Amino acid sequence: MSPAVVGEEDEGWFLLGPIGVLPAHQKKGVGSALVQAAMDRMREQGTLGIVLVGPPEYYGRFGFKSLESLTYPGVPSQYVLAVSFGGTAPGGDIKAHDAFG
Ligand SMILES: CC(C)(COP(=O)(O)OP(=O)(O)OC[C@H]1O[C@@H](n2cnc3c(N)ncnc32)[C@H](O)[C@@H]1OP(=O)(O)O)[C@@H](O)C(=O)NCCC(=O)NCCS
Repeated sequence: MSPAVVGEEDEGWFLLGPIGVLPAHQKKGVGSALVQAAMDRMREQGTLGIVLVGPPEYYGRFGFKSLESLTYPGVPSQYVLAVSFGGTAPGGDIKAHDAFG
């Protein structure tokens, strides 16, 4: 998890991932455990929510949804997903932490 800027909001939103599980260990619940633990921790910390770029078919099961208003430069909108903990819908461009270069 890393802090992200979402639109005009420079506090409260966090970017998940990327995550990866070695092929030999996939489909054993490791990915779900990682996502669930990250979500629990972010919720406990009182964050606004989580944004990510990833396959909606996978992240949909955790409640992540694409929103027309939420964008990540260069990424098709169906892969830009969010879950909100406080009821605030995220909007605007996602800017990842500088650590991502
Ligand atoms: C996505 C990933 C992290 C899931 O890890 P995992 O430990 O296998 O996940 P789980 O065991 O919790 O869940 C497996 C389920 O997710 C499904 N799944 C995995 N990748 C998927 C995808 N891209 N789209 C849809 N479903 C996917 C599997 O088919 C499996 O479905 P099932 O529960 O019906 O059998 C792993 O497949 C991976 O490392 N993929 C390559 C990197 C990647 O795409 N990362 C996500 C983008 S950040």
